[in-house]
Amino acid sequence: MSLVSETARGAGSRSGSGAFLPVAPGKKPAAAGRISLANIVHSYSREAAPVIDGLSLSIEPGEFVCLVGPSGCGKTTLLKLVAGFEFPEGGQVVVDGSKVERPDGDRAVVFQHSNLFPWLSVRGNVELGPKLAGIGRAERREISDRLLDMVGLEDAAEKKTWELSGGMQQRCSIARALATDPAIILMDEPFGALDAITRERLQDEILDIWRNSKSTIVFVTHGVDEALYLGTRVVVMGDRPGRILLDLPIGSFGAETGGDVRRSVRDSTAFLDLKRKVRDTIGHSGKEED
Ligand SMILES: Nc1ncnc2c1ncn2[C@@H]1O[C@H](COP(=O)(O)OP(=O)(O)OP(=O)(O)O)[C@@H](O)[C@H]1O
Ligand SMILES: [Mg+2]
Repeated sequence: MSLVSETARGAGSRSGSGAFLPVAPGKKPAAAGRISLANIVHSYSREAAPVIDGLSLSIEPGEFVCLVGPSGCGKTTLLKLVAGFEFPEGGQVVVDGSKVERPDGDRAVVFQHSNLFPWLSVRGNVELGPKLAGIGRAERREISDRLLDMVGLEDAAEKKTWELSGGMQQRCSIARALATDPAIILMDEPFGALDAITRERLQDEILDIWRNSKSTIVFVTHGVDEALYLGTRVVVMGDRPGRILLDLPIGSFGAETGGDVRRSVRDSTAFLDLKRKVRDTIGHSGKEED
């Protein structure tokens, strides 16, 4: 996740060898981060029915798309297809005009469970991406200080990752994903393991980061409140096979108001109407959420 391809950054074409060139964080062009999934069919085995069948979704640069749906409907699979960890049996995944053929540093992923490098310290994990992108020591330190402070790990910077609690590891994963200023951030229930207070703080931090970075965010969550609070758009998936049931542009409650008025936002008629609509859709797909 630490090397950035010149193709995705729009800085020229990829070399014939398929090599990746490092690009410094903060240098992504304004229009980067467009995702297009066209008529996607995906199975994990030839014998099994497709997990995703005929799914199409276009995401514009800078959108904050929250993806909700029942367990097993294919949310993680969809993120893996965009990340380049899985490839569709039918249809195409295109990011910024290029077919997705491999993982790329421009698409950072925060998984449901952290996958930190255990041989590196917390700071080492966060600084690895910038280091491989050629960022100097002093600037790397600034990046890791800022991000570790943001996720509340400033006192754990020199620890090994296995010395952290599960929630701390997840916060470190978030800091690591943000360190290269990726055009696309794919987040798979990133706050699921966190306590309520940390979760709310990080929700507001993510909104700040999104506003400042202009990154495209695709955020999977089981929380309808969380989806409505964070997203500019909420996409509801149904299962058997995975497909889109509802695609709801909602502007952005959290982005326009900030976290300090979270409670009044959640009690607003507009918020409650949308919540009912999303929950009804998930309910009709066979399982209830949230
Ligand atoms: N590596 C795999 N091999 C085989 N089947 C898989 C694999 N990964 C996922 N599946 C199957 O694909 C379907 C969709 O899984 P996926 O993990 O995308 O769902 P999800 O919507 O993310 O669920 P959850 O909300 O529980 O995380 C499920 O039926 C799951 O069993
Ligand atoms: Mg999942």
